[in-house]
Amino acid sequence: MDAQPGLSLGLNAHISSPVSSHSAMLTDNSFSFPIPNPSVPWQQLLVDEDYKPLDKLKHEDEEEEDDDDDDDVDQEEEEDDDEEEEEGGIIDEEEAHEQKEQERKQHQTINFMGGGSFPVKRRHIEGSESYFPSKRFAADSNSNSNSNSTVEGRKASVLSWGNQPLGIADPEIFEIMEKEKKRQFKGIELIASENFVCKAVMEALGSHLTNKYSEGMPGNKYYTGNQHIDQLEFLCCERALVAFDLDPNKWGVNVQPYSCTSANFAVYTGLLHPGDRIMGMDSASGGHLSHGYYTMSGKKVSAASIFFETMPYKVNHLTGYIDYEKLEEKAMDFRPKILICGGSSYPREWDYGKFRMIADKCGAVLMCDMAHISGLVAAKEVASPFDYCDIVTSTTHKSLRGPRGGIVFYRRGAKPRKPGHVHYHGDDVNYDLEEKINFALYPSLQGGPHNNHIAALAVALKQVATPEYKAYMQQVKKNAQALASALLKRKCRLVTDGTDNHLLLWDLTALGLNDRNYEKVCEACHITLNKCAIYGSTSPGGVRIGTPAMTSRGCVEEDFETIAEFLLKAAQITSSIVQREHAKPFKDFVKNLQINKDISNLRNQVEAFSSRFAMPGFDF
Ligand SMILES: Cc1ncc(COP(=O)(O)O)c(C=O)c1O
Repeated sequence: MDAQPGLSLGLNAHISSPVSSHSAMLTDNSFSFPIPNPSVPWQQLLVDEDYKPLDKLKHEDEEEEDDDDDDDVDQEEEEDDDEEEEEGGIIDEEEAHEQKEQERKQHQTINFMGGGSFPVKRRHIEGSESYFPSKRFAADSNSNSNSNSTVEGRKASVLSWGNQPLGIADPEIFEIMEKEKKRQFKGIELIASENFVCKAVMEALGSHLTNKYSEGMPGNKYYTGNQHIDQLEFLCCERALVAFDLDPNKWGVNVQPYSCTSANFAVYTGLLHPGDRIMGMDSASGGHLSHGYYTMSGKKVSAASIFFETMPYKVNHLTGYIDYEKLEEKAMDFRPKILICGGSSYPREWDYGKFRMIADKCGAVLMCDMAHISGLVAAKEVASPFDYCDIVTSTTHKSLRGPRGGIVFYRRGAKPRKPGHVHYHGDDVNYDLEEKINFALYPSLQGGPHNNHIAALAVALKQVATPEYKAYMQQVKKNAQALASALLKRKCRLVTDGTDNHLLLWDLTALGLNDRNYEKVCEACHITLNKCAIYGSTSPGGVRIGTPAMTSRGCVEEDFETIAEFLLKAAQITSSIVQREHAKPFKDFVKNLQINKDISNLRNQVEAFSSRFAMPGFDF
């Protein structure tokens, strides 16, 4: 990338594309700048025997004040002071005070790279001059003041902080975390976007890698000391390409996004001007907020809609499948610059070929957000968006079963000769998506990547490329189908009558149930799933149910038949409560759930069932 005038010193060094892991040479295309003649002679760096640090000066000032109070002024010392002053050894009182004040202010500002700083708001502690964040800290530091007055005491205080296990260092947080661990273990997790990571991923996540700052692309980091982090990130990128069976000459990847929402926004930021047009699936049809969302009254909710113009396409309200004809018509009128496929609750295959055709017709870049199905894509258990799309984004924590974060893949190198595939990004021959997206992620939108996340993602991606992972994804699909047919057998209504992937949408309106009530009853029974709109309608609607998490715990088809029984029992309970307490407001409906006998019976069964299955990464 060319140097950009006006950017801070050396910035371009770390925002350019990653240096190839195959090449031994680091390219640094940062500014070169002349080194001025030294304004401070080197000799002055020798120790100045007359130097006194500011706190010493302050101390002396205080002593002087004390002495002033005393009638007995020590004439000799005064003379000494005068002498020093004459020699220029002492800064006058006002100046010293000014410097101290500046030092104090410095402590209240945070410097950010590029040299600027901004003030930090501190919590004010009543009746205290302290800038520490809490009263407790202030009190503790007072009680330690004796031991802190010696160097050894201070050393001991600092060292005591570093090596305590969580349970000792912070029992409050530890206890909350233990409760959450039990909740995860004893419940049935059916939220389609959730999963359980393995011990190795957790180890990498909770590691010293969080300590390192490493802005920039691997091989081109801003800070020094990144040799191992570079290696880590290169390896993670390499594994990402292997996991999705991608040719590194045709696809590049950035593993730094903090989340998929950030990855999506980086694509828009890199490729569009504010106000340009984006078209994605309507949130009520199963799309995601990060593809654009505004309310019926026109309030722009998602940043995609705040900064760009968004127009949604929808599913057919009779079939639940994407209405490609209407989509094409809308796209031709709206002419989006980015057309997005992929969503949060679509149980069927995406016809990427059709999307490509429409994108080409209206001149749009085709982007797929495969967040939900990325595990299935990697295992080749669903169609691959890589065959048709220019850009593919994903979360890393859903079916992919990695740590919480985002990832973005972009086409690189030569454009295909056949028509389509974005003509206007890059020149006639090559794509330039890589430079634009990498620059948007950093420095435009993010700061330092979370290296602990990148390491954990690399661990997960290594697993993704194994036959065991393929077996896992196959089981996820089998389980979704087993659950679907168990519900269909009992005359439940599923959107599109089934599923091609890991999730299904159960339309509760057919049972006369409200999605909100049912979701809460399930929660009280220790089953987590989420309400969702059906065919673009708002509540009451249905629920989305996914199989990745419980499959990670070892559930197979017959277990999902049991789960179907639990879900139906919960529906019965909801129905009878609603009939009994018809007019009660939702708040009261929720309040009484915990004391309902049927619910506690079902909860006991659910917990007994779940406790039979192993929990990856847990000690029990
Ligand atoms: C399709 C899709 N894209 C993006 C996201 C957002 O992911 P994140 O929470 O990592 O920002 C989700 C999350 O549910 C999603 O389903």
